[in-house]
Amino acid sequence: MAQADIAVIGMAVMGRNLAMNIAEKGFKVAVFNRSPARTDEAIKEAGDLAGNMIACHTIEELIAALKPPRALLLMVKAGAAVDETIDQLKPHLSQGDIIIDAGNANYRDSVAHDKALGAEGFQFLGVGVSGGEEGARHGPSIMVGGSPKAYERVKDVLNAIAARYEGASCCGYMGPAGAGHFVKTLHNGIEYADMQMIAEAYGLMRSGLGMTPAAIADVFEGWTKGPLASYLTEISVQALRSVDPTTSKPLVDVILDSAGQKGTGRWSAIEALDLGVPASAIAAAVEARGLSSMRSLRQAVNGALGDAERAPIGSATPEIIADIEKTLLTGKILAYAQGFDVLAAGSRQFDWNLPLAEIAKIWRAGCIIRSRMLDSMSKAYSATPAPESLILDPDFAGELKAALPSARKILGLAVANGHPVPALTSAVNYLQQLRTSRATVDLVQAQRDIFGAHGFERIDQPGAHHGPWHTGA
Ligand code: ATR
Repeated sequence: MAQADIAVIGMAVMGRNLAMNIAEKGFKVAVFNRSPARTDEAIKEAGDLAGNMIACHTIEELIAALKPPRALLLMVKAGAAVDETIDQLKPHLSQGDIIIDAGNANYRDSVAHDKALGAEGFQFLGVGVSGGEEGARHGPSIMVGGSPKAYERVKDVLNAIAARYEGASCCGYMGPAGAGHFVKTLHNGIEYADMQMIAEAYGLMRSGLGMTPAAIADVFEGWTKGPLASYLTEISVQALRSVDPTTSKPLVDVILDSAGQKGTGRWSAIEALDLGVPASAIAAAVEARGLSSMRSLRQAVNGALGDAERAPIGSATPEIIADIEKTLLTGKILAYAQGFDVLAAGSRQFDWNLPLAEIAKIWRAGCIIRSRMLDSMSKAYSATPAPESLILDPDFAGELKAALPSARKILGLAVANGHPVPALTSAVNYLQQLRTSRATVDLVQAQRDIFGAHGFERIDQPGAHHGPWHTGA
């Protein structure tokens, strides 16, 4: 009998936790996995919650279990697996049924799925879900893209399972198909920058101030009570306090320094470049991960040029630690400002009308970048008119102005003493460039006119100009 409110397809970690979350909120959820053994494992893991779950071992069973119009949420590996699953489902669907891709899809794929499924009379939602395993189980941040009608059908379920911030659900409607995954992509891009900058601050304290991981954990713990309060700061405390049971060394010291990536950070940087919006801190973080994985090149350069000879930047006084906190604060505000600028540009380009204040709101809980600062960002974007950049919001402008001298001092010391700080310097350079009343591209324009007769505008006369250029020696 058709009694399930929704289906979750894909019983890997995210899918099964999402299904348990749905069941816990009182909805009936049909569950299905390509390999049936995983469906049974998920039901076993669900314990009492299995009462609200319907295990389906074939697509026919799954289709029969769902109330019409059917809502089928896919949590399978992004890319080809989504295409294959949609192809397998389609022959069994009825007009108006809704396919929901809740994986880490590229927004272009969601736009394409919406178009193709829409042409065949089906509905599609591209939904970004952030929060990892814990979020999926107890409340993620949910970014929905697709037709309002399709959203209406699953709104109650999605809002019920989302995280709460002061009682408000962290599920939001972002706009047409593609908008949900675009917002999720930028969420991940910002996440890359945030993580990299925290790691750079750690590096400065570790090799610049000679502090132990445990001592740095204490510093980070202090920061969780100030403007840098965030989930990522909290888990950094947890990481730095952990000890390897085998070697008794700090656990971070036995972790291979080569970071993985699944693509969303890179997509953010690509979208930013495509849209012509600087997202240098995000790009630097993506590149830092890329460089970290080039281990043989790193070893070869290390061998050819010697070690970086990182010198101390000082001793671990409260003053210098406060300066590093302000440096991270500066970098973080700027990375978020860049991420929101990409969202705003994407919104203009695709005519999405992305709700920036709402995005900051639904990121305040559930997702990986949840932080105190996002509450201030939601307030900044609620202003009418909304600021052209977060940097122009009076509160953030004030914070940046107050913190920038510390950032300049620390990053100066970092570069002079051989400490790599690519994301933090990219962020601060971005601000320095934005702040200058006269940029140095006047010389670039001159070069372009000399080699390509591209012409230039003058500050004192209208129209296009060429030279005259000095000739001879
Ligand atoms: P994990 O490493 O946790 O297995 P994964 O390989 O990304 O994660 O797969 C996540 C989910 O996508 C799984 O439910 C997987 O199904 P299986 O358990 O049968 O492997 C599903 N999945 C991957 N490729 C798929 C495909 N081509 N068609 C349908 N489902 C697929």
